[in-house]
Amino acid sequence: MTDFTRREMIGAGALAIGVAATISSDGGAQVLPSPDYSPRRRVRLEDWRFHLGHASDPARDFGFGRDQRTFAKAGDSATAARPDFDDSRWAAVQVPHDWAVALPFAQGPVIKDSDRGAAHGFKAIGRDFPHNSIGWYRTPIEITAADKGRSIWLEFDGVFRDCLVFVNGYVVGRHESGYAPFRVEIADFLNYDGKPNAVTVRADASLGEGWFYEGAGIYRHVDLVSADPVHIPQWGTFVRSELRTDGAVVHTQTEVFNSGAIPASVVLRQSILGGAANTALPDTSLQLAPGERRLVEQEVLVPRPLLWSLEEPNLHSLYSQIVTNGTLVDDYSTTFGIRDIRFDAARGFFLNGRPVKLLGTANHHDHAGVGTGIPDTLHRWRVAQMKEMGSNAWRSAHNPPSTSLLDACDLYGMLMICEARYNSSDEEALSQLERMIRRDRNHPSVILWSLGNEEPHQATTRGARINAEMARHVKQLDPTRPTTFAMDQGWDNGIGRVVDVLGFNYRTNQIEAYHGRHPDQPVYGSETGSTVATRGEYATDKARHTVRAYDTEHPWWATTAEEWWTIAADRPYIAGGFVWTGFDYRGEPTPYNEWPSISSQFGILDTCGFPKDDYYYYRAWWRPNLPQVHLLPHWNWPGRAGKPIEVWAHGNTEEVELLLNGRSLGRKAMPRNRHLEWRVPYTPGKLEAVGYNGGQVAARDTRETTGAPAAIELLADRRVATIHDVLILNASVVDAKGRVVPTASNLLRFSVNGGKIIGVGNGNPNSLEPDVASQRKAFNGFAQAILRIGNDRGPVDISVASPGLKGTRLRIMAG
Ligand code: GAL
Repeated sequence: MTDFTRREMIGAGALAIGVAATISSDGGAQVLPSPDYSPRRRVRLEDWRFHLGHASDPARDFGFGRDQRTFAKAGDSATAARPDFDDSRWAAVQVPHDWAVALPFAQGPVIKDSDRGAAHGFKAIGRDFPHNSIGWYRTPIEITAADKGRSIWLEFDGVFRDCLVFVNGYVVGRHESGYAPFRVEIADFLNYDGKPNAVTVRADASLGEGWFYEGAGIYRHVDLVSADPVHIPQWGTFVRSELRTDGAVVHTQTEVFNSGAIPASVVLRQSILGGAANTALPDTSLQLAPGERRLVEQEVLVPRPLLWSLEEPNLHSLYSQIVTNGTLVDDYSTTFGIRDIRFDAARGFFLNGRPVKLLGTANHHDHAGVGTGIPDTLHRWRVAQMKEMGSNAWRSAHNPPSTSLLDACDLYGMLMICEARYNSSDEEALSQLERMIRRDRNHPSVILWSLGNEEPHQATTRGARINAEMARHVKQLDPTRPTTFAMDQGWDNGIGRVVDVLGFNYRTNQIEAYHGRHPDQPVYGSETGSTVATRGEYATDKARHTVRAYDTEHPWWATTAEEWWTIAADRPYIAGGFVWTGFDYRGEPTPYNEWPSISSQFGILDTCGFPKDDYYYYRAWWRPNLPQVHLLPHWNWPGRAGKPIEVWAHGNTEEVELLLNGRSLGRKAMPRNRHLEWRVPYTPGKLEAVGYNGGQVAARDTRETTGAPAAIELLADRRVATIHDVLILNASVVDAKGRVVPTASNLLRFSVNGGKIIGVGNGNPNSLEPDVASQRKAFNGFAQAILRIGNDRGPVDISVASPGLKGTRLRIMAG
């Protein structure tokens, strides 16, 4: 296993805090490690108080909007925003937090034949539920006399949505987008004399921006930053690299801002950390007038750089310091990777000069139990599941990803498409686009800027005009990466003529003809495949809203996994594709677009990340060097004795033999990028697939008829974890012989000594059980709980119980 510790530190920006400069007598700086000192203070605001407000009743909205004078006087628009407001009876929550996931499911008003709530997963939120659609958050912040005169701001990575930010009662920021990051200056509004300081956020999720579940609230990180008036502003650096035979030329742009009222004379001192050796850049002296911003551009050759690649995602850091009169006044760390990307219209995508097929999935950003409030560890876990399948690329559909997800992609070697949510060239849209690019352009994982997806104007000249303007903006901010757009029709026109690399949503069989007409434009599948399947179900049952998990079912506009991959795999000009989707997501409950289906069934994995059978199809052909075979369905078919069962094997060995209770049912050659099928009269017992390479056994898989549920097994994603961090707990129901019972639905109760279960799930797209609970029924044998570890170091004991089953215990160490 790779040791990620150091990289994780860099990824978390810890170097900014862990390194300080000591100034030697000759004025030159040495970079020395010092864990305690950084002139810049960054505090992650994780602990908040939360209360629902009301979208139409001011009396239930802490007086907000109580009369026409809401914004009439500075510092007085709602009681909950006042610094002395008593929030002790509000719920204590930890950010990232999604309040919608804790709401009940509700059918809502039925509009014609379709349910309005279906798109958002039937959570009782939106205009029909004004009492659930406003969320208030409060947190105290610690400000001391030493902060006076400094530049102080809040960085929000994403709030859903339409939020007002108050400091000590003052409205200090208003932000509509539920996805774009934003920053709020707060220094003028603070108390520096020991009196309390409070940040309040009011988020209004009455309206949505998507046709999928979007969550609600402060679902991404918030940081408080206090810096010297002369500092490097948020996203103030851009690091690019160019590979040459003698090494990598690293090009840096660093913005230095004097926000103070007096001129400043400073030195910008930078070095590149990580890789084989640290590389110092020459010092730059700057005279800055009050309010002046300067961009410093530098170039340095890094000989023998350790490249960022999919197999070895090496990260570097640009460490920037501002020194005035021999004193370090600000420092800033930028994580980046040295790598080269390019798209070739005939040969696809290249990373570091080598062709790499994009083996991608498109994903929304919600998970069982926690909704959109995904903790960093869970982001990493989700990326790791995809990596394990052999996937190397992720499309953040249809919005900018969180910084935490990008960090995870940098860390694990996962390529990323960042996508704008708002496809327009108006001022607000360009501002959102700019913020995404400035925030994300140093991440080596990012390979494409997607301007949008299937907009009604996609094939029109107006669409072309709007997107040409967006593309022009992108190029100014980042000339190193191509633009793209995901189209589902009209590729020859409109936006198709404007972006560098063109995405096909489905219609994989039309790419060939398009490529013939436009041989100079790189193409890929921005949404591909899209098999619908219910994990562990092998019959489509309209009454139960289940879909058979063979690779056969898909909406009319999509295909099976096998249909798209057999087309894409052998055509080098198709740069790859992004399966819709990697994970099941809440909302858009296809194919049963009605109550009580609450999530889509497109995922290769379910909402918990438990694999469906198609996972093994992709893993077989995306990890061809790992000999493997996988059998479906399960082998528990009471009442079906003698009746034929459709048996499939996914796998990549040259041949596969099927055996039932030790008797061979034949050996077949595995066709490349396909699967094998048998019809087997059912007899209980053991069904076995044996994979052969060169006549030798290379892989096996078995399905056994199990006994009744007898016990519970529990797996944690790791045995040692940091306090406050989350742990992913997967429980399974097994028979007396320890075999997972593939149809088990026992109710499992989780209890923890030293932490809290913050959410549960089981991957059932039709379950209306609460997410925020500590119990959950198993679905086809499995359930999941997300545990947040408490404040104490030492052992944490987790147990799972269920009536009639032997319970289980697990101890992990919190450190
Ligand atoms: C696409 C769309 C996705 C999702 C998908 C469902 O057209 O871009 O967001 O709705 O269809 O099949």
